[in-house]
Amino acid sequence: MVGKIIGTGSYIPEQIWDNEKLSHMVDTNDEWIRERTGIARRHIAGEEETTAYMAAKAAETALQNAGMKAAEVDLIIAATISPGEIMPCTSCEVQKRIGAVNATCFDLNSACTGFLFALNTAQAYLGQEIYHTAVIIGAESLSHLTNWEDRGTCILFGDGAGAVVLKASPEGRYTQVTHSSGEKGSVLTCTSRNQPKYVENSRAPETYMQMDGKEVFKFAVSKVPEVIRELLEKTETDSGKIHRYILHQANERIVKSVAKRLGEEMEKFPVNIADYGNTSSASIPILLDELNRKGDFSQGDLLVLAGFGAGLSYGASLLEW
Ligand code: COA
Repeated sequence: MVGKIIGTGSYIPEQIWDNEKLSHMVDTNDEWIRERTGIARRHIAGEEETTAYMAAKAAETALQNAGMKAAEVDLIIAATISPGEIMPCTSCEVQKRIGAVNATCFDLNSACTGFLFALNTAQAYLGQEIYHTAVIIGAESLSHLTNWEDRGTCILFGDGAGAVVLKASPEGRYTQVTHSSGEKGSVLTCTSRNQPKYVENSRAPETYMQMDGKEVFKFAVSKVPEVIRELLEKTETDSGKIHRYILHQANERIVKSVAKRLGEEMEKFPVNIADYGNTSSASIPILLDELNRKGDFSQGDLLVLAGFGAGLSYGASLLEW
């Protein structure tokens, strides 16, 4: 059994902060941000648009797209590093909001690789016939973890959510390759915002995302092509057969570099980072949903999804649409 994607959905907050707005907040400018990252604007969640709210909206639209009722869902996994609450978990909140009364729900934190790892986890359950239908969500309110006075990071991130519906099927393909490099964890960090009660201070700098941008960049452009090659070798798949490479959207230059290192045309590597910035675990399902709604995928198309991020962690999955 393989979990086939039978529906996609997403939710993008209404509020848009363009590069021009950021140039009034920190010492930066539109030209620099576009040139170095490909980002033109990002969406910022309003007060009502919590991580769970966005996740539930994305799940609802994915279920509509799949033509399924919430009560038919057996499993919900939400990947997030920016839940509104530590407990209850975001996926239980989604369950309540959409009425998925029969689902088992839990969250998964693997930062920007989170959606891919959640998808892999669901595949294991569906493959073993423990569950038959699953909703996998990536949802982030990164604006809450962003230091808006740090130009090295604040230009990169945005908020949003994406989701897919999986149904167990005897036909189809799904193969994954994953890796983690915990020893490199210090290049991308964010500490829990909670301080012991006796600590009296305003928000500590380490409670915002902190990053050695150059190291993360080097890691991504070397490891992502490597893991994609490993996946293609493992599945004995000719790269010419891949319809699209759906990469985590962290920086357009990273995507271009991966395409070049793999010797592939950029048209196989869709990019939407200009509109959303890096939405961490939400970036892959948002892009999948955009392409699906444009009618970019046909039955039988082979897709490679590739994620990378804090941990450090990275992975790639091959699936048949
Ligand atoms: N606006 C204007 N100038 C900026 C700037 C900003 N927002 N941020 C840095 N600069 C300046 C630097 O101070 C430096 O100036 P100098 O040459 O006078 O010293 C110059 O621009 C170049 O800085 P540098 O850090 O070398 O830029 P870069 O090309 O490495 O780009 C990132 C920085 C963060 C965009 C890039 O390293 C990156 O995308 N890394 C990966 C981050 C990522 O993907 N994280 C999430 C992974 S899931």
